[in-house]
Amino acid sequence: PPLSEILNLHDFEAIAKEIMPPKAWAYYSSAADDEITNRENHLAYQRIWFRPRVLRDVTHVDWSTKILGHKTSMPIYITATALGKLGHPEGEVLLTRAAAKHGIIQMIPTLASCSFDDIVNAAQPGQVQFMQLYVNKDRDITKRLVQHAEKRGIKGLFITVDAPQLGRREKDMRMKFEGDADVQVGTAVDRSQGAARAISSFIDPVPIILKGIQCWEDALMALEAKCDGIVLSNHGGRQLDMSRSGIEVLEEVVTKFKERGLWPCPKFEIYIDGGVRRATDVLKAVAMGATAVGIGRPFLYAYSAYGQDGINQALQILKESFDEMEMNMRLLGARTIEEVVPEMVDTRSLCSH
Ligand code: FNR
Repeated sequence: PPLSEILNLHDFEAIAKEIMPPKAWAYYSSAADDEITNRENHLAYQRIWFRPRVLRDVTHVDWSTKILGHKTSMPIYITATALGKLGHPEGEVLLTRAAAKHGIIQMIPTLASCSFDDIVNAAQPGQVQFMQLYVNKDRDITKRLVQHAEKRGIKGLFITVDAPQLGRREKDMRMKFEGDADVQVGTAVDRSQGAARAISSFIDPVPIILKGIQCWEDALMALEAKCDGIVLSNHGGRQLDMSRSGIEVLEEVVTKFKERGLWPCPKFEIYIDGGVRRATDVLKAVAMGATAVGIGRPFLYAYSAYGQDGINQALQILKESFDEMEMNMRLLGARTIEEVVPEMVDTRSLCSH
């Protein structure tokens, strides 16, 4: 179907499934074991309800915000996904260009298909990019990577801590996909804190965020280790099946931090990813305390199916969908991102499975 008939992020997935080479589809879409966590990531949002405030003037609505102090046109960033060229010969630079066009931030994966420098070179002057880091057993390799990233102006380092080894992705195994590499570099991170410390000793100026935190205890360790933030993520359900959705973990972390007088936590940003497909999902996450959310697969599907136009359109949909966002913020009674507050969501069903 023509791109103009694509109305939401789910549509891209359905089309990508039809037209992508089976191996590429298997790699992008697969998740661990029975793929329950992958489904739950999205389903969890359906257990959160809104409590809109209607007696307000909502003529003007603004959903731009900041991530680590950098302006973004919406509280969404492009998360790191390995092997971008499986879906399209140009790979990750398609995401870079779309991010520039729509004023959002891209996280560059360690295991990108394009070279790191190609991705940085594809950016517009002043365009903010983050880097996702798998810590190599050989710390010197990691050190060089990080120093290079820092030199190239990377504004945040997202260290993935949920992948001491690769999850079991059967769809992918059936395809006997051989170049597989979410974690090909032997990334064992023994303790998130240790890794953060080891790295922070030489790249002080670049904020450090741990990606893949899944309970409040580890969130607290990250805070105590003076990380700049965390991503509550289960790697898109690709690692430990039956781990909880990021949005459920967010509820837990904020509750426990509040109990300890640690919330709000201005110098420690919390992001979540996994299953975010609608502007309303984003609003729920923001209401519950997230600074921003990451989106992965839908963007891969969008460019795999339609190239540059596809990924541009995916972001346009989110923006319209952020028209949808504009509409939903009006309906919710929030004029700015700051006005999207916990009282606007009813999470009582969230943790009942
Ligand atoms: C990923 N993800 C990921 N994360 C990471 O830290 N390093 C990586 O190399 C990859 N690679 C990767 C490949 C593919 C194909 C997918 C789908 C995902 C996880 C990613 O950053 C993010 O956590 C999830 O993709 C978010 O879930 P959704 O939006 O895909 O549902």
